[in-house]
Amino acid sequence: MEVLSKLLGGTLNSITCKCMVLFVTILLLRVLLLSSFPGFDGIEWNNLVYIQNHLPALLGSDSRIRPDKFLEVPQIVWGLNNQKIAFARACLTARMMNRTLLIPSLSASLFYKEIDLLQPISFDKVFKFDEFNTLCGGFVRLGRYADVLNRTQVLEMEKGSGRRWTMERDLAQLREYSKGSFDDHEVIRIVGKNPFLWHDHWPVKDYAKVFECLELIDEIAEEVDRVVSRIREVGKNVGGNTESLELKNNITSDKSLFQPLPYVAVHMRIEIDWMIHCKKLEQRLNTNQICSSKKEIKERVRNVVGQKTPIVVYLAVADKLLNDSSIMEDWEEGLHPFEKKKLGVTGIYNKYPYLIQSAIDYEVCSRADIFVGNSFSTFSSLIVLERTQNLIRKGVSNMCGTDARWPSYAYNIAGESNGPMRWITNMSESSLKSISYGTTHISC
Ligand SMILES: *[C@@H]1O[C@H](CO)[C@@H](O)[C@H](O)[C@H]1NC(C)=O
Ligand SMILES: *[C@@H]1O[C@H](CO)[C@@H](O)[C@H](O)[C@H]1NC(C)=O
Ligand SMILES: *[C@@H]1O[C@H](CO)[C@@H](O)[C@H](O)[C@H]1NC(C)=O
Ligand SMILES: *[C@@H]1O[C@H](CO)[C@@H](O)[C@H](O)[C@H]1NC(C)=O
Ligand SMILES: *[C@@H]1O[C@H](CO)[C@@H](O)[C@H](O)[C@H]1NC(C)=O
Repeated sequence: MEVLSKLLGGTLNSITCKCMVLFVTILLLRVLLLSSFPGFDGIEWNNLVYIQNHLPALLGSDSRIRPDKFLEVPQIVWGLNNQKIAFARACLTARMMNRTLLIPSLSASLFYKEIDLLQPISFDKVFKFDEFNTLCGGFVRLGRYADVLNRTQVLEMEKGSGRRWTMERDLAQLREYSKGSFDDHEVIRIVGKNPFLWHDHWPVKDYAKVFECLELIDEIAEEVDRVVSRIREVGKNVGGNTESLELKNNITSDKSLFQPLPYVAVHMRIEIDWMIHCKKLEQRLNTNQICSSKKEIKERVRNVVGQKTPIVVYLAVADKLLNDSSIMEDWEEGLHPFEKKKLGVTGIYNKYPYLIQSAIDYEVCSRADIFVGNSFSTFSSLIVLERTQNLIRKGVSNMCGTDARWPSYAYNIAGESNGPMRWITNMSESSLKSISYGTTHISC
């Protein structure tokens, strides 16, 4: 106990101590369980890092967030990426005001204009509510409407808009509403545009912290497991990999059989509307490093996979491309492309609305051994942000090394020997701009 109390730099009464012993035990168990998965590196150092990262949160040592003062935000809309960023921005706004964020409504469907078709879906129908507060405890906090004592006394705070609503004015408003009689209100409700469009006042690492606390509810996580195991399953069957298929049902002590087969995930943006958008962007930014043709993507993926063939390439593409046979053709020998139709998993996706389908694809890409995306896509950028955060958490020191594990790449920028450029997120950036608008500065 003495060591721990020194570690935490404080004197502790006995109740705190007991709680702490409990928490530490839970943490150690969690860490040990995680470590026994294949693909995890050694135990000691990573676990120390893990404990160091999560202990203060669990102990609530940063407990400035008041559980009885709330912030309410407008329904969160548009694509999964917009919604994730908007959600994190709402959390960080509440954190700045030391308030609990009232559980927001996300949108299940993808509509930009028809507001009545937005199909609100509560946050906890997609992500785990309690888990979120446990993982993010003390940093940001979510609350339920039932926790509000008096709903008649809501203070509305109107976000300005237009060119004159500058970052400074926005910040000044947040500060003003954090003081005096404003701050006395139990609930402050922000009205106006959706949080994705608010000014951003927070560094990338704060966003990463919030994203880290988002865990899909069990039902959806199980669907992700199904898709990922299907991908690894077909991997046993492609090219020269028949040997492992034969051995599959043979009881053997060879541990390598339990190593899941690796796969590459490629987030391929080649739909017509994207192509129009990115050509315009290339013109405006005077670059040719945003749009890549199918041919270029296939070539660059080929050049990064190198000798590690045969390998399954999971193509995360827009649904409208599923009937476009050209995305499956002309991959070089050893690369075996699959999308959800060829995998036979469309049934899994089709059970769900847009938001959840997108969340499943996102997770499948996040877990890939190699990820290749487009650095001007918010979807790709968020995946790389989470993959980078994962590497940091696992204590991987040399994320840029040639032999680094779980690498990510941007196919729209040429890297070494005409492969795609290595891509990690710069966690020291002071705002999320580079992720929400795209960038070519992605290298190590
Ligand atoms: C809620 O606030 C209103 C306005 O101040 C007050 O009249 C009412 O009695 C309060 N209700 C409760 C349950 O505290
Ligand atoms: C929020 O908490 C911090 C740290 O305890 C404190 O400095 C700040 O004044 C608080 N702000 C509000 C609005 O309560
Ligand atoms: C299982 O593997 C062993 C060793 O490779 C082999 O001798 C045996 O015949 C295999 N059994 C079956 C049922 O395939
Ligand atoms: C693909 O083609 C099939 C058969 O023609 C059709 O039923 C299906 O709706 C199409 N899917 C998409 C996403 O266009
Ligand atoms: C990361 O971002 C910081 C802050 O903008 C900058 O000073 C630094 O040079 C960047 N690092 C890399 C490798 O680009």
